Amino acid sequence: MTDLPKHIAVIMDGNGRWARQRGLPRSAGHQAGVKATRKIVEHCVRLQTEALTIYAFSSENWRRPEKEVNFLMELFIKAIGSELNKLHENNIRVQFIGELTKFPDGLLHEIKLATEKTAQNTGLRLNIAVNYGGRNELTNAMVQIAAKVEAGELSSKSITEDVILQHSWLPDCPEPDLFVRTGGEQRLSNYLLWHIAYTELSFTDTLWPDFDGDELDKLIEQYTQRQRRFGQTGEQVQASE
Ligand code: FPP
Repeated sequence: MTDLPKHIAVIMDGNGRWARQRGLPRSAGHQAGVKATRKIVEHCVRLQTEALTIYAFSSENWRRPEKEVNFLMELFIKAIGSELNKLHENNIRVQFIGELTKFPDGLLHEIKLATEKTAQNTGLRLNIAVNYGGRNELTNAMVQIAAKVEAGELSSKSITEDVILQHSWLPDCPEPDLFVRTGGEQRLSNYLLWHIAYTELSFTDTLWPDFDGDELDKLIEQYTQRQRRFGQTGEQVQASE
């Protein structure tokens, strides 16, 4: 049996389809998606999960209709604003990963407030990926490392996997143990590419607004039945348990 996952990474997919199935606008699906997010955060607090990393907005999501992008920005501003006290009371440390510069001032303000207010909290680490792309994260790390090499602060020989991790947007989180994607698609969509090299992948057809603690428990249960080998043989892993 594998221990409970310390870090869970989630792609919350299916808000639009959930709304379409009910004859509602996509915006209603996103609103229902916020409610589902709240439930999953609460559930992870109960499970004493160390970190939960959710994909709220990818660097490719800017390609959606302007109306939907604007709605999502407003929704994030409202959701962070109205949830912040509760997140803080629950000792949750909120961090945002991604290229934050492109966002409207109102959202940047909420992001700063949430990050600063919860910075000293020691409970669940809630990482919210916004304008995030895995390739972008790696490119950004390479650029920083190259600048240090050019400036003579780092020698090219001392570039290790750990140095790359330290220049990533999640330098001090345990690697995700479990990746969950709702909404039926089975792809990574440029999510956490560096960090999920050995993560166990789990896909469910459930649309994000319908996803809840019971369903997460089922996926965690399946995860605990898996043997994580990290390149070793099954026999080696058994012998070391
Ligand atoms: C996927 O549904 C979801 C998103 C693009 C992101 C929006 C996420 C939320 C509103 C959840 C709450 C997040 C926070 C940080 C409070 P989709 O539109 O891709 O669905 P579809 O594939 O069915 O069209």
